[in-house]
This record gives sequence, structure tokens and C-alpha cells, in this order.
Amino acid sequence: MKIENIDKKYVLQTYKRNYVNFTHGKNAFLYDDKGNEYIDFMCGISVVNAGHANEYINNKLKEQIDKLAHTSNLFLIEPQAKLAQKIASLFDDNYASFFCNSGTEANEGAIKLARKYGKDERYKIITLKNSFHGRTITSLKATGQTDMHNYFGPFPDGFVYAEDIDDIINKVDKKTVAIMIELVQGEGGLERLDKSKVQEIAKYCKENDILLIVDEVQTGVYRTGEFLASIEYDIKPDIITIAKALANSLPIGAIITKHKDIFSIGDHGSTFGGNFLSSQAGLATLEFLEKLKSSSKLDKTIKNYQENLSSLEQKYPNIIIKKVGHGMMGGYRIKENINIDDIISVAFKNKLLIIKAGKNTIRIFPPLSVEKEVLNDGFHILDYVFSSF
Ligand SMILES: Cc1ncc(COP(=O)(O)O)c(C=O)c1O
Repeated sequence: MKIENIDKKYVLQTYKRNYVNFTHGKNAFLYDDKGNEYIDFMCGISVVNAGHANEYINNKLKEQIDKLAHTSNLFLIEPQAKLAQKIASLFDDNYASFFCNSGTEANEGAIKLARKYGKDERYKIITLKNSFHGRTITSLKATGQTDMHNYFGPFPDGFVYAEDIDDIINKVDKKTVAIMIELVQGEGGLERLDKSKVQEIAKYCKENDILLIVDEVQTGVYRTGEFLASIEYDIKPDIITIAKALANSLPIGAIITKHKDIFSIGDHGSTFGGNFLSSQAGLATLEFLEKLKSSSKLDKTIKNYQENLSSLEQKYPNIIIKKVGHGMMGGYRIKENINIDDIISVAFKNKLLIIKAGKNTIRIFPPLSVEKEVLNDGFHILDYVFSSF
């Protein structure tokens, strides 16, 4: 049986899958089984931020896998402790981490932490209408895009959706324990929240003993230019969640919080979370990206990326409403009369991988380590793609 048919028969069909068979990659390049070379401007949806087959990370992983891959969170896991220390050193030394395996799990944990903080008296969490926080039952209910809730109820109580950032405070009542936001909404279409309004919300939360949870699953790990978008927004949320790019491809998620005493022993756990392999990969990923940032390479790449984005924005007003996002988490809001799926498919035929966000946005997420020439080549292909619409 052809591998495509094996997939169709034996894998539950929940993805609109493109049956290209990628076999290997190098930084921003991917290669399929027919020897075709693609430029990867989606990074596995913001996961492979340090590039495919990253030598530094892979060497650390190889060393680790030959020694020890998994014991249990009931024992000390040296790379996990070092990863938590590294996260704190890149953000704030007063924060501690809990490790899990994905973004949705990190958000579930953050919600549990907030609920315990509310001591059964306060339990409501306000999120934004256009948000995306994951696909497990509680994170799905936290997701304000309610059309995703069809078929899956009943859900846990206590989620309230604000229309937009200006509406958040209107939605607060005596039962509110937390406000949860993405600083640049990923699946919601790369909408960047206004910095001063976010700072006002952070101040309001502090004054009213409401927890601020920032979901940095997509913005985090340097995608917006800093280790966390919260750094650029100059806020110190009560809880931050990260996942995706943290281990550059190994499954990992983290709850990062300054409230270290809310969870007691036994309140939360995970069999796999932060085991030797994912933590070692996380540590190596952060070491690699920290260097990319401190050497100013990342800032130069982002400048070039933003110039490329702007130049196509100006060239194709017939297709593009505006460029959106922040840092290297950018893309275009596309006009209604243009079919985004067609743009993505023409780009694919021209060996460029890009991806949709929300209903009318294209995401352009190269690895942060992309070489200048490859970045420019990818945008040349995009230019050619747009010219055919
Ligand atoms: C902001 C945000 N939160 C949570 C998630 C869920 O992450 P995961 O797919 O790892 O569960 C995503 C995934 O796209 C996301 O973008």
C-alpha cells in the first residue's frame, strides 16, 4: 500500500494533510523524497525556531540519549533544573517553572493554578473573543473563538469572553480570578495587542488581586524578538505559558510563575513533562537562541525580514490589506476577494512553505536562524506568487 493510503486508513483524519513526504532538513530548507528543496517559512507552526537539524542542539541531544532519556519527576532531573534556571535568568530570577508536554497542557496547568489561587471563592477567567489557547476541553473553553466549541460540551464553567482588550475590565466581577491573553494573537490572525493598554491591564490586575496569565505559546522563545513578548511589553505577568519552540521540536510546555507556593505536592504532575531529553533539548535551544540574540544577529535578521514584509505590502495593495504581527511573527492580512488557500498552494508549488492564521491572514515564520540570502530568496518566491494573483 502507498504510504499516503496507509496514513489515510490507519491515522485518524483530523488534519487537512498535504501528502508531501519530507525526509530531511537543514536550517530553513526541507527536502522531500523526490529530492525537491523547499524553503520553510512556517517552521512547523513556530516550533523549529532554531532551524532544522540544528547541529548544536542535536549534539547535546545525542549525548543525552546515549546516557539517559527518562526516569520520573519523582527524582531529580538535572537538565530540567538547569532549564528552569535558564528560563528565570532570561526573564526574572523570581519565577519558577513547571514542565509539561504542549501548549494546551501548559494552559490547563495555568488555569488550575489560578483556580487554586481563587480558593473556591473566585474562579472566573476572562479571555478574548478572538483568542486561541488549545484543544483540550478546558483550554478549548478558554479559547474565545466559540465556533470551535461545537460538539464538545459540556465544558467547565467560568470562562468569560471580552470583545477586545478595551472590554476586559467591563467583564470583571467578584468571581473573577484571572485575565488570560496572548500579546500577539497567533491563530486569531497575528493581531498585536496595544502595549500601553496591556500595561494598563497589568496594573489593574495587580491593584485588584487578579492574576494576569499571558499565553506565550506562540509568541515565546524569541519569535517576537525577545525571549518573551512580555519583555518587550515590559510587564511581569503572574503566569506565563510557553511550549512550541522551547525544545525546537521535542514536545515540551512550561508554566512560568512568580506564585511558587500555590501548588502543593500532588496538586499537579506529568509523566513525561521535562524529562531528560526534552529538557536537554530545551536548554540547548535557549543557549543557541540566546547567543543569536546577544550577537545582534537576530535583530539584524528581523530588520531584514520586516523590510521584506513592507516592500511586498507596498507592491501588492490589490492583495494585501496590511502587514500584521511583530518581530519575526509576521504576515499579511489578505483581501476578502483573494483565496488564501490558493496563495498557499501556489507558494507550495514554487517550493515555499507558508501557512494561514485565522480566516484571512498569511503567517510567514522563517527560522530565526535563517541566512540572509535564504530569507531574501523566500520573499522573492512570495513576490512571484503574489504577481500571479
Ligand atoms: C497561543 C497558543 N496557545 C496554545 C496553543 C496550543 O498549543 P499545543 O498545540 O502545543 O497544544 C497554541 C497552538 O497553536 C497557541 O498558538
